Amino acid sequence: MIRTAIIGATGYTGFELLGLLSRHPHVTLDYVTSRADAGRPIGALYPTRQPMVLSDVEALPLDEIDLLFVALPHAAAAPFVARGLTAGCRVIDLSADFRLRDAASYRQWYGADHPAPALLAEAVYGLTEWARPALGDCRLVANPGCYPTSILLALAPLLAAGRLADATIIADSKSGTSGAGRAPKVATLFAEVSDNLTPYAIGHAHRHSAEVEQEMAALGGDAAPRGLLFSPHLLPVTRGILSTLYLPWRDALSEAALRDLYANHYTKEPFIWLLPAGETATLAHSVGTNRCTISLHPVPERGHLIIVSTLDNLLKGAAGQAVQNMNVMFGWDERAGLTA
Ligand SMILES: NC(=O)c1ccc[n+]([C@@H]2O[C@H](COP(=O)([O-])OP(=O)(O)OC[C@H]3O[C@@H](n4cnc5c(N)ncnc54)[C@H](OP(=O)(O)O)[C@@H]3O)[C@@H](O)[C@H]2O)c1
Repeated sequence: MIRTAIIGATGYTGFELLGLLSRHPHVTLDYVTSRADAGRPIGALYPTRQPMVLSDVEALPLDEIDLLFVALPHAAAAPFVARGLTAGCRVIDLSADFRLRDAASYRQWYGADHPAPALLAEAVYGLTEWARPALGDCRLVANPGCYPTSILLALAPLLAAGRLADATIIADSKSGTSGAGRAPKVATLFAEVSDNLTPYAIGHAHRHSAEVEQEMAALGGDAAPRGLLFSPHLLPVTRGILSTLYLPWRDALSEAALRDLYANHYTKEPFIWLLPAGETATLAHSVGTNRCTISLHPVPERGHLIIVSTLDNLLKGAAGQAVQNMNVMFGWDERAGLTA
């Protein structure tokens, strides 16, 4: 058994992690923290019979912890990540603080200097399906964003095969409101969200664009796409992301060869559900699970391929993928604690 702790356990991703780690066969969950609610049981904030009491983050005995999960807003996370590493913990950070490899890029997209730039070089971008070789020995995992996970997993087989060179990828994505976190905001009030569908940060304005472009370039190499046009939307559901991707289909790839490419790439993946021809991924295929569900929709007569990709933003898009990464880091069955 390893000893774990969650900093920021009262947020949506932190609480999701609390549930997963409490049931995990190879870990003990020793501490869960909050600033505002230290000293209160988690059951005072969420309808749960889980008896843990929230600790003050400043009093967390880091030297007792093997693996630290940091589930804080960006910029607030990095100092705690640094403290955890200094104390000898391995760390999985769910925030965006270590996803961009370049401090200048962080400054451009997050509007401030990086709080711990010396750690950027060693962070592993934890999209589990392609990060496995680097996860075994690493100290710091930058858990990917929810939208980027849905987009990158949908593109990975074509990126790895070098079939998206110079393409502009269009991603039209919809997210449930838990994606915005638990802190109250007017935009996520019930009266604003219900019976509505709201685009925001469309074009090349959302911070996740930088993360997707960085990773498309890394996987695509010399045959990387040119870039991303990204239109996120706020959907009136609590959880789930659905991304519809539009990409050019320029070379002579038959539909059968395309489906083989995806089937071969994902044949052994426990958390990728590739749907057969004629079926379309929906939120219901993924919500409540750690799966990313993908369906392929070729439109050769118009020279395009449409891909639909869905996941649960709090599971495969955050806490579930963090646990999947932990399982790889410690050499356990990747499905441990993640399947019913
Ligand atoms: N929600 C999603 O679907 C999702 C998906 C992927 C990644 N993420 C990322 O995961 C991180 C957490 O997201 P979330 O949705 O769980 O956020 P959230 O619901 O807003 O919760 C944030 C947590 O951080 C604590 N906190 C806030 N400011 C802090 C500070 N300055 N110092 C210490 N603690 C602070 C809060 O509790 P106290 O104020 O009591 O300390 C709370 O426990 C974010 O970086 C987010 O971008 C979220």
